[in-house]
Amino acid sequence: MLDRDALAAATAPLSRARSMPAGFYTDPAVFAAEREHILLKQWFFTCREEMLPNAGDYRAFDTPGGPILLLRGADGVLRAFANFCRHRGSLLVEGEGCTKRLICPYHAWSYMLDGSLWGCPDMKDAEGFDRIENGLVPVRMETWNGFVFCTFADDSPPLIEHLGDLPERLGSHRLGEMRCTWRITLQPNCNWKLILENAMETYHTGIVHKDTVGKQSSRTLDTRGEWLCIQVIAGRSIATLPGTAPPFAPIDGLDADARQGTYFTVIHPTCQFAVSQDCMWWLNVTPVAHDRSILEVGGCFPESVLADPEFEAKAAAYYKRWEDVALEDVGILEKQQVALGSVLYRQGPLSWRDDEVQAIGIWVLDHLPLRA
Ligand code: FES
Ligand SMILES: [Fe+2]
Repeated sequence: MLDRDALAAATAPLSRARSMPAGFYTDPAVFAAEREHILLKQWFFTCREEMLPNAGDYRAFDTPGGPILLLRGADGVLRAFANFCRHRGSLLVEGEGCTKRLICPYHAWSYMLDGSLWGCPDMKDAEGFDRIENGLVPVRMETWNGFVFCTFADDSPPLIEHLGDLPERLGSHRLGEMRCTWRITLQPNCNWKLILENAMETYHTGIVHKDTVGKQSSRTLDTRGEWLCIQVIAGRSIATLPGTAPPFAPIDGLDADARQGTYFTVIHPTCQFAVSQDCMWWLNVTPVAHDRSILEVGGCFPESVLADPEFEAKAAAYYKRWEDVALEDVGILEKQQVALGSVLYRQGPLSWRDDEVQAIGIWVLDHLPLRA
């Protein structure tokens, strides 16, 4: 699928490493292998818990394993299920909402808020039919600090193990007190890995973002667990543009490291948390095909600042910055995806500033049965 020598060059020590071969981003067979060995095996982020505050609140998500839904039960417990009806498989819900029962739009089977089957008209002649066995199919779900993750694998390690020392590194930001106030969804025509690679280097920022965030410098931090981290050095939050002083005060009690800048992370395989002195935002990538992804950008602030009567006016500067920068990134990534399709493409040399780009690629390769 991918040439052995090409992969050896891509995984060589950074000073003599090459970028990944084009097929890493353009070959549907590589994408199929990633889906089987990575996307269906690892934890993926969905949303924050407070986005479903009440009993009956539900949200639908498209994932590489098909549609799923989150549903808050009458008992207050949040659960995840596959989003299909147990009769003949219709999609049950779309978007988000609040309901007393989930009612299938096809033949009106209905489900309680804990996923158990409630109504199933005209099934009395079906031999061996057991209502108990025909509840919604659960999806494994765990939360950390209010961030809801799911996985299709029963045997993947607990989320907290996956996160390694991320909770420690981000401890002083008290992310459990964050509340999501804003989200946008983009549909970039590019491979999912390009989005995460781009999000982990500041080599491009002075060029692609010359009119917005501008030039940045970063340091790579050691991590333990299934995540990577760089810190963009800046004594103030970079969640507003350079000309706009951040209107919100830094979070109380940030540790010395956290005060020095914004952490950009990749929580393998498909999620980035960017954590600044006054807020956090996520880039959540849903791979759709080798050359198509869904990118959600979501912004969160500490709950304490939401009470500020001018919160919305102040937060607008953050929302604009997040959206403008994301659109600039998507613009360049779509150009990169097109050019990676060249039959003449050859692997390029890497800069020391591409260290985390290489690290992401190596992590992916390590999880694919491509190498001996
Ligand atoms: S598919 Fe849902 S009730 Fe028939
Ligand atoms: Fe960027």
